Amino acid sequence: MGKILVFGSSNADMILKTVNIPQKGETVRCEDYKNAAGGKGANQACACAKLGADTVFLSAVGSDQFADMVLSSLRAAGTDVSRVLKSASQSTGFAVINVDSVGENTIVVVPGANQLCTEEYISENLAAIADADICLVQLELPGKSVYEFIRQAKLCGKTVIFNPAPASKDIPDDIYDGLDYITPNETEIAQITGMAAESEAEIAAAAERLLEKGVKNVIVTIGSKGVIHVSSEGVRRYPAYKVKSVDTTAAGDTFNAGLAVALLEGKGLQDAISFGNAAAGISVTRNGAQPSIPSREEVDGFIKNQYI
Ligand code: RIB
Repeated sequence: MGKILVFGSSNADMILKTVNIPQKGETVRCEDYKNAAGGKGANQACACAKLGADTVFLSAVGSDQFADMVLSSLRAAGTDVSRVLKSASQSTGFAVINVDSVGENTIVVVPGANQLCTEEYISENLAAIADADICLVQLELPGKSVYEFIRQAKLCGKTVIFNPAPASKDIPDDIYDGLDYITPNETEIAQITGMAAESEAEIAAAAERLLEKGVKNVIVTIGSKGVIHVSSEGVRRYPAYKVKSVDTTAAGDTFNAGLAVALLEGKGLQDAISFGNAAAGISVTRNGAQPSIPSREEVDGFIKNQYI
């Protein structure tokens, strides 16, 4: 059926559940604390495999218990982690995630071994790019290596999905040129374009700016309001599925993976966005990043139930 190659970060998540996310100068009580496998790249690689795609992951971890946690979660999902670097000197990246009572979060990331994903690492893994059909990448790694990955994937004629999370203001213009899909959320599109992106009209205007730079499809995730797709054919809005959210961590990652898997299977873009939306919708009803990612059967069942 083809293969998805994910290049991205691996983290151990430390999840702190509090009623409200603490404000500057405030001390709050933690209601619940958990460690779980995370990292935007690892979450997307885990989700691609759980949703049924043959998935290879490029990343780096340390030689510690957090590396074991992330790698065993990925292996259990069926992701090929044979190309993941294991550092003896750097510890696995980690993230401190505050989640409030309605499931919204803030995240602080310590990069650790993720910094070892250099441009040389990409050169060493060109065969994996050549062997893939869809290349999926985020921005939680050194920017230069992410851009090199995208350049190489484009050179090989691969379908590229670029999830610019966390956002950077310094994305080189050539990255946008000919890019198949970019998938920021509303905050990220504001940051990468320098434009306001609060209303639907503002999001569409910011997306137009990216189309002018050569992006073919701008897909903006807007949380519980769904997704906006902007292309040369116009603007289309996809509502989110109505669910009770407990933790939105990795919802964007699950959406990106669902989109990639559906495209790999040859679904049209409308169906691929709806599939990603459904997978993300299920993920927010559960706690944690990788533990919240649904299986393929769950997503198919969820979509079927919407039409009964
Ligand atoms: O997208 C969610 C992820 O962001 C978390 O798993 C955390 O590790 C950070 O990378």
